[in-house]
Amino acid sequence: MSGTNEKVSRLSDTDIFRSIPKEQLVEIAQVIQDKFVSPKTNICRQGDPGDSYYIIHSRKVRVFLRSEDGVETDLNQLGPGESFGEMALLTDEPRSADIEAIEETHLFILSKEEFDGVLKNHPEVFRNFIKHMSELLRRGDSIIQEEAEFQYHAPKLSLFDFVFIGVVILIFTTIFNFANPNKINIIPKFYDPEEIPKIDLSLANEKHEEGETLFIDARPNYFFEEGHIMGAINIPLSLFNIMYLMLGELDEEENIIVVDKEKNIIVYGRSMSAQYDEEVARKFKNLGHENVKILKTGSQYMPLTWGALSGWRENGYPVEEPNND
Ligand code: CMP
Repeated sequence: MSGTNEKVSRLSDTDIFRSIPKEQLVEIAQVIQDKFVSPKTNICRQGDPGDSYYIIHSRKVRVFLRSEDGVETDLNQLGPGESFGEMALLTDEPRSADIEAIEETHLFILSKEEFDGVLKNHPEVFRNFIKHMSELLRRGDSIIQEEAEFQYHAPKLSLFDFVFIGVVILIFTTIFNFANPNKINIIPKFYDPEEIPKIDLSLANEKHEEGETLFIDARPNYFFEEGHIMGAINIPLSLFNIMYLMLGELDEEENIIVVDKEKNIIVYGRSMSAQYDEEVARKFKNLGHENVKILKTGSQYMPLTWGALSGWRENGYPVEEPNND
Protein backbone atom coordinates (compact mmCIF):
# COMPACT_ATOMS: atom_id res chain seq x y z
CA MET A 1 0.00 0.00 0.00
CA SER A 2 1.14 3.53 -0.63
CA GLY A 3 1.11 6.31 1.90
CA THR A 4 -0.50 9.72 1.39
CA ASN A 5 2.82 11.31 0.48
CA GLU A 6 3.43 8.81 -2.26
CA LYS A 7 -0.05 9.42 -3.61
CA VAL A 8 0.38 13.20 -3.49
CA SER A 9 3.68 12.89 -5.28
CA ARG A 10 2.08 10.79 -8.01
CA LEU A 11 -0.90 13.13 -8.40
CA SER A 12 1.31 16.18 -8.71
CA ASP A 13 3.06 14.37 -11.51
CA THR A 14 -0.07 13.97 -13.66
CA ASP A 15 -1.40 16.36 -16.34
CA ILE A 16 -4.82 16.41 -14.69
CA PHE A 17 -3.85 17.23 -11.08
CA ARG A 18 -0.56 19.07 -11.57
CA SER A 19 -2.18 22.49 -11.21
CA ILE A 20 -3.86 21.72 -7.83
CA PRO A 21 -2.22 23.12 -4.69
CA LYS A 22 -0.50 20.54 -2.49
CA GLU A 23 -2.90 20.86 0.51
CA GLN A 24 -5.82 20.03 -1.76
CA LEU A 25 -3.95 17.10 -3.26
CA VAL A 26 -3.56 15.73 0.26
CA GLU A 27 -7.36 15.74 0.64
CA ILE A 28 -7.76 13.88 -2.63
CA ALA A 29 -4.98 11.42 -1.79
CA GLN A 30 -6.73 10.52 1.46
CA VAL A 31 -9.76 9.10 -0.37
CA ILE A 32 -7.79 7.24 -3.03
CA GLN A 33 -7.67 3.42 -2.83
CA ASP A 34 -4.85 1.16 -4.02
CA LYS A 35 -5.43 -1.73 -6.38
CA PHE A 36 -2.97 -4.26 -7.82
CA VAL A 37 -3.92 -5.96 -11.08
CA SER A 38 -2.26 -9.04 -12.55
CA PRO A 39 -1.10 -9.09 -16.16
CA LYS A 40 -3.83 -9.80 -18.77
CA THR A 41 -6.57 -8.91 -16.29
CA ASN A 42 -9.39 -6.82 -17.65
CA ILE A 43 -9.97 -3.61 -15.65
CA CYS A 44 -12.75 -2.01 -17.71
CA ARG A 45 -14.94 -3.52 -20.35
CA GLN A 46 -16.35 -1.56 -23.27
CA GLY A 47 -20.11 -1.14 -22.78
CA ASP A 48 -20.08 -1.61 -18.98
CA PRO A 49 -21.32 1.21 -16.73
CA GLY A 50 -18.51 3.25 -15.18
CA ASP A 51 -18.12 3.43 -11.39
CA SER A 52 -14.46 4.40 -10.88
CA TYR A 53 -11.62 6.53 -12.13
CA TYR A 54 -8.09 5.08 -12.27
CA ILE A 55 -4.60 6.61 -12.06
CA ILE A 56 -1.67 4.37 -12.95
CA HIS A 57 0.97 4.44 -10.24
CA SER A 58 3.29 1.89 -11.82
CA ARG A 59 3.55 -0.33 -14.91
CA LYS A 60 1.27 -0.34 -17.94
CA VAL A 61 -2.21 -0.99 -19.32
CA ARG A 62 -3.51 -1.50 -22.83
CA VAL A 63 -6.56 0.38 -24.19
CA PHE A 64 -8.33 -1.41 -27.01
CA LEU A 65 -11.62 -1.90 -28.82
CA ARG A 66 -13.16 -5.31 -29.41
CA SER A 67 -15.36 -5.84 -32.47
CA GLU A 68 -18.36 -8.16 -32.54
CA ASP A 69 -16.31 -10.92 -34.15
CA GLY A 70 -13.61 -10.57 -31.49
CA VAL A 71 -11.05 -8.58 -33.50
CA GLU A 72 -9.09 -6.32 -31.13
CA THR A 73 -7.92 -2.86 -32.20
CA ASP A 74 -5.29 -1.28 -29.97
CA LEU A 75 -5.90 2.38 -29.20
CA ASN A 76 -3.14 3.11 -26.76
CA GLN A 77 -0.90 2.00 -23.93
CA LEU A 78 -0.88 4.02 -20.72
CA GLY A 79 1.85 4.14 -18.10
CA PRO A 80 2.71 5.76 -14.73
CA GLY A 81 1.03 9.13 -14.18
CA GLU A 82 -1.58 8.53 -16.84
CA SER A 83 -5.21 7.85 -16.01
CA PHE A 84 -8.34 6.31 -17.46
CA GLY A 85 -12.03 5.74 -16.82
CA GLU A 86 -13.00 9.43 -16.69
CA MET A 87 -15.19 9.36 -19.83
CA ALA A 88 -17.97 7.17 -18.47
CA LEU A 89 -18.01 9.18 -15.24
CA LEU A 90 -18.16 12.54 -16.96
CA THR A 91 -20.69 11.58 -19.65
CA ASP A 92 -22.77 8.91 -17.89
CA GLU A 93 -22.24 6.79 -21.00
CA PRO A 94 -20.97 3.19 -20.82
CA ARG A 95 -17.20 2.51 -20.95
CA SER A 96 -15.84 3.46 -24.37
CA ALA A 97 -13.03 0.88 -24.50
CA ASP A 98 -11.55 -2.21 -22.88
CA ILE A 99 -8.58 -1.76 -20.55
CA GLU A 100 -6.29 -4.62 -19.64
CA ALA A 101 -3.16 -4.71 -17.50
CA ILE A 102 -0.07 -5.54 -19.54
CA GLU A 103 2.10 -6.09 -16.45
CA GLU A 104 1.40 -6.38 -12.72
CA THR A 105 -0.02 -2.88 -12.42
CA HIS A 106 -0.45 -0.67 -9.37
CA LEU A 107 -3.50 1.58 -9.70
CA PHE A 108 -4.94 4.40 -7.61
CA ILE A 109 -8.74 4.40 -7.66
CA LEU A 110 -11.32 7.11 -7.03
CA SER A 111 -14.94 5.97 -6.75
CA LYS A 112 -17.58 7.86 -8.74
CA GLU A 113 -18.73 9.82 -5.65
CA GLU A 114 -15.21 10.90 -4.77
CA PHE A 115 -14.50 11.74 -8.38
CA ASP A 116 -17.63 13.95 -8.50
CA GLY A 117 -16.53 15.60 -5.26
CA VAL A 118 -13.10 16.44 -6.69
CA LEU A 119 -14.70 17.97 -9.81
CA LYS A 120 -17.06 20.05 -7.67
CA ASN A 121 -14.29 21.41 -5.51
CA HIS A 122 -11.72 21.89 -8.28
CA PRO A 123 -13.16 23.36 -11.50
CA GLU A 124 -9.65 23.43 -12.92
CA VAL A 125 -9.52 19.63 -12.77
CA PHE A 126 -12.80 19.55 -14.68
CA ARG A 127 -11.29 21.75 -17.43
CA ASN A 128 -8.20 19.51 -17.59
CA PHE A 129 -10.46 16.50 -18.09
CA ILE A 130 -12.35 18.16 -20.95
CA LYS A 131 -9.04 19.01 -22.67
CA HIS A 132 -7.80 15.45 -22.15
CA MET A 133 -11.01 13.90 -23.48
CA SER A 134 -11.12 15.97 -26.64
CA GLU A 135 -7.50 14.98 -27.31
CA LEU A 136 -8.39 11.29 -26.84
CA LEU A 137 -11.36 11.51 -29.17
CA ARG A 138 -9.31 13.20 -31.85
CA ARG A 139 -6.52 10.61 -31.58
CA GLY A 140 -8.88 7.67 -31.19
CA ASP A 141 -10.73 8.55 -34.38
CA SER A 142 -7.68 8.55 -36.54
CA ILE A 143 -6.37 5.32 -35.01
CA ILE A 144 -9.70 3.60 -35.55
CA GLN A 145 -9.77 4.72 -39.16
CA GLU A 146 -6.20 3.53 -39.80
CA GLU A 147 -6.96 0.20 -38.17
CA ALA A 148 -10.18 -0.21 -40.13
CA GLU A 149 -8.27 0.30 -43.37
CA PHE A 150 -5.55 -2.08 -42.24
CA GLN A 151 -8.00 -4.73 -41.14
CA TYR A 152 -10.06 -4.68 -44.33
CA HIS A 153 -10.87 -8.28 -45.07
CA ALA A 154 -11.85 -9.46 -48.50
CA PRO A 155 -15.40 -10.79 -48.48
CA LYS A 156 -15.40 -14.42 -47.49
CA LEU A 157 -16.24 -16.91 -50.26
CA SER A 158 -18.30 -19.92 -49.41
CA LEU A 159 -17.51 -23.24 -51.08
CA PHE A 160 -20.57 -22.72 -53.26
CA ASP A 161 -19.32 -19.27 -54.43
CA PHE A 162 -15.94 -20.76 -55.17
CA VAL A 163 -17.32 -23.64 -57.25
CA PHE A 164 -19.81 -21.33 -58.97
CA ILE A 165 -17.10 -18.85 -60.02
CA GLY A 166 -14.92 -21.72 -61.23
CA VAL A 167 -17.73 -23.13 -63.38
CA VAL A 168 -18.56 -19.71 -64.84
CA ILE A 169 -14.91 -19.12 -65.76
CA LEU A 170 -14.70 -22.55 -67.38
CA ILE A 171 -17.86 -21.97 -69.42
CA PHE A 172 -16.70 -18.55 -70.65
CA THR A 173 -13.22 -19.79 -71.49
CA THR A 174 -14.64 -22.73 -73.42
CA ILE A 175 -17.08 -20.49 -75.33
CA PHE A 176 -14.27 -18.07 -76.10
CA ASN A 177 -12.07 -20.85 -77.34
CA PHE A 178 -14.75 -22.30 -79.61
CA ALA A 179 -15.33 -18.83 -81.01
CA ASN A 180 -11.62 -18.53 -81.67
CA PRO A 181 -11.08 -19.15 -85.40
CA ASN A 182 -7.72 -20.74 -84.73
CA LYS A 183 -9.09 -23.42 -82.41
CA ILE A 184 -6.21 -23.17 -79.99
CA ASN A 185 -5.88 -25.57 -77.08
CA ILE A 186 -6.56 -23.80 -73.86
CA ILE A 187 -5.80 -26.76 -71.64
CA PRO A 188 -2.12 -27.62 -71.72
CA LYS A 189 -1.30 -31.10 -72.85
CA PHE A 190 0.01 -33.04 -69.90
CA TYR A 191 1.75 -35.61 -72.06
CA ASP A 192 2.87 -34.82 -75.54
CA PRO A 193 5.30 -37.19 -77.32
CA GLU A 194 6.34 -34.34 -79.59
CA GLU A 195 6.69 -31.77 -76.91
CA ILE A 196 8.53 -28.71 -78.10
CA PRO A 197 11.50 -27.92 -75.84
CA LYS A 198 11.40 -24.82 -73.69
CA ILE A 199 14.21 -22.37 -73.19
CA ASP A 200 14.49 -20.21 -70.10
CA LEU A 201 14.72 -16.46 -70.16
CA SER A 202 18.39 -16.00 -69.31
CA LEU A 203 19.57 -18.54 -71.90
CA ALA A 204 17.25 -17.00 -74.48
CA ASN A 205 18.73 -13.60 -73.69
CA GLU A 206 22.21 -14.98 -74.32
CA LYS A 207 21.01 -16.24 -77.71
CA HIS A 208 19.46 -12.83 -78.33
CA GLU A 209 22.80 -11.16 -77.64
CA GLU A 210 24.60 -13.54 -79.99
CA GLY A 211 22.15 -12.41 -82.66
CA GLU A 212 21.97 -15.76 -84.49
CA THR A 213 18.50 -16.73 -83.31
CA LEU A 214 15.16 -15.73 -84.80
CA PHE A 215 12.71 -14.53 -82.17
CA ILE A 216 9.14 -15.11 -83.29
CA ASP A 217 6.29 -13.29 -81.58
CA ALA A 218 3.29 -15.54 -82.16
CA ARG A 219 0.62 -13.21 -80.80
CA PRO A 220 -1.95 -11.31 -82.84
CA ASN A 221 -0.51 -8.18 -84.39
CA TYR A 222 -2.20 -5.68 -82.09
CA PHE A 223 -0.42 -7.21 -79.08
CA PHE A 224 2.87 -7.21 -80.95
CA GLU A 225 2.41 -3.50 -81.70
CA GLU A 226 2.03 -2.80 -77.98
CA GLY A 227 5.55 -4.04 -77.34
CA HIS A 228 7.71 -7.02 -78.16
CA ILE A 229 11.17 -8.48 -77.75
CA MET A 230 13.68 -6.34 -79.59
CA GLY A 231 14.10 -7.56 -83.17
CA ALA A 232 11.33 -10.17 -82.94
CA ILE A 233 9.31 -10.95 -86.05
CA ASN A 234 5.57 -11.13 -85.69
CA ILE A 235 4.10 -14.30 -87.14
CA PRO A 236 0.55 -14.56 -85.78
CA LEU A 237 -0.96 -18.00 -86.11
CA SER A 238 -3.70 -16.82 -88.44
CA LEU A 239 -1.16 -15.34 -90.89
CA PHE A 240 1.45 -18.02 -90.48
CA ASN A 241 1.56 -19.26 -94.09
CA ILE A 242 2.07 -15.81 -95.57
CA MET A 243 4.43 -14.45 -92.95
CA TYR A 244 6.53 -17.62 -93.02
CA LEU A 245 7.55 -16.86 -96.57
CA MET A 246 8.93 -13.51 -95.46
CA LEU A 247 11.63 -15.37 -93.55
CA GLY A 248 13.01 -16.94 -96.72
CA GLU A 249 14.99 -15.92 -99.75
CA LEU A 250 14.18 -16.41 -103.40
CA ASP A 251 15.95 -19.34 -105.03
CA GLU A 252 16.40 -17.81 -108.49
CA GLU A 253 16.96 -21.17 -110.20
CA GLU A 254 13.92 -22.90 -108.79
CA ASN A 255 11.95 -19.66 -108.50
CA ILE A 256 10.75 -20.56 -104.99
CA ILE A 257 11.28 -19.02 -101.59
CA VAL A 258 13.55 -21.10 -99.37
CA VAL A 259 13.68 -20.73 -95.60
CA ASP A 260 16.83 -21.82 -93.74
CA LYS A 261 15.62 -24.80 -91.71
CA GLU A 262 18.80 -24.96 -89.62
CA LYS A 263 18.19 -21.56 -88.08
CA ASN A 264 17.56 -21.42 -84.31
CA ILE A 265 14.06 -20.22 -83.58
CA ILE A 266 12.57 -19.12 -80.28
CA VAL A 267 8.81 -18.59 -80.21
CA TYR A 268 6.92 -16.73 -77.49
CA GLY A 269 3.41 -15.46 -76.78
CA ARG A 270 0.51 -16.95 -74.92
CA SER A 271 -2.52 -15.74 -73.03
CA MET A 272 -5.04 -17.17 -70.58
CA SER A 273 -7.07 -18.55 -73.43
CA ALA A 274 -4.54 -19.24 -76.16
CA GLN A 275 -1.17 -20.91 -76.44
CA TYR A 276 -0.08 -19.12 -79.60
CA ASP A 277 3.56 -19.99 -78.94
CA GLU A 278 2.83 -23.73 -78.88
CA GLU A 279 0.80 -23.66 -82.08
CA VAL A 280 3.19 -21.51 -84.09
CA ALA A 281 6.21 -23.50 -82.89
CA ARG A 282 4.46 -26.67 -84.04
CA LYS A 283 3.91 -25.19 -87.49
CA PHE A 284 7.62 -24.57 -87.80
CA LYS A 285 8.27 -28.13 -86.70
CA ASN A 286 5.83 -29.49 -89.26
CA LEU A 287 7.71 -27.62 -91.99
CA GLY A 288 10.94 -29.39 -91.02
CA HIS A 289 12.52 -26.90 -88.60
CA GLU A 290 14.45 -28.85 -85.97
CA ASN A 291 15.82 -26.04 -83.81
CA VAL A 292 12.63 -24.62 -82.46
CA LYS A 293 12.16 -23.73 -78.82
CA ILE A 294 9.45 -22.02 -76.82
CA LEU A 295 10.35 -19.24 -74.44
CA LYS A 296 9.42 -20.32 -70.90
CA THR A 297 6.89 -18.22 -69.05
CA GLY A 298 8.94 -16.40 -66.48
CA SER A 299 6.86 -13.68 -64.93
CA GLN A 300 6.46 -14.02 -61.19
CA TYR A 301 3.27 -11.96 -61.40
CA MET A 302 1.52 -13.38 -64.45
CA PRO A 303 2.76 -16.91 -64.98
CA LEU A 304 -0.31 -17.95 -66.97
CA THR A 305 -0.81 -14.95 -69.19
CA TRP A 306 1.82 -13.00 -71.12
CA GLY A 307 4.37 -14.72 -68.97
CA ALA A 308 7.36 -14.92 -71.30
CA LEU A 309 7.26 -11.30 -72.40
CA SER A 310 6.45 -10.05 -68.89
CA GLY A 311 9.36 -12.04 -67.50
CA TRP A 312 11.61 -10.75 -70.28
CA ARG A 313 10.66 -7.19 -69.32
CA GLU A 314 11.05 -7.84 -65.58
CA ASN A 315 14.61 -8.98 -66.23
CA GLY A 316 15.35 -5.79 -68.10
CA TYR A 317 16.06 -7.60 -71.38
CA PRO A 318 15.64 -5.51 -74.54
CA VAL A 319 12.15 -4.75 -75.81
CA GLU A 320 10.75 -2.47 -78.48
CA GLU A 321 7.84 -0.34 -77.31
CA PRO A 322 5.77 2.11 -79.33
CA ASN A 323 6.80 5.72 -78.84
CA ASN A 324 3.71 7.34 -77.36
CA ASP A 325 5.14 10.86 -77.24
P1 CMP B 1 -14.17 5.20 -20.13
O1 CMP B 1 -14.97 5.30 -21.38
O2 CMP B 1 -14.83 5.51 -18.87
O3 CMP B 1 -13.55 3.73 -20.08
C1 CMP B 1 -12.55 3.36 -21.02
C2 CMP B 1 -11.46 4.39 -20.95
O4 CMP B 1 -10.44 4.22 -21.85
C3 CMP B 1 -11.98 5.76 -21.28
O5 CMP B 1 -12.87 6.15 -20.30
C4 CMP B 1 -10.73 6.55 -21.41
O6 CMP B 1 -10.23 6.90 -20.16
C5 CMP B 1 -9.82 5.49 -22.00
N1 CMP B 1 -9.64 5.69 -23.43
C6 CMP B 1 -10.56 5.62 -24.42
N2 CMP B 1 -10.00 5.85 -25.62
C7 CMP B 1 -8.70 6.06 -25.38
C8 CMP B 1 -7.57 6.33 -26.19
N3 CMP B 1 -7.70 6.45 -27.51
N4 CMP B 1 -6.36 6.48 -25.62
C9 CMP B 1 -6.22 6.36 -24.29
N5 CMP B 1 -7.24 6.10 -23.46
C10 CMP B 1 -8.46 5.95 -23.99
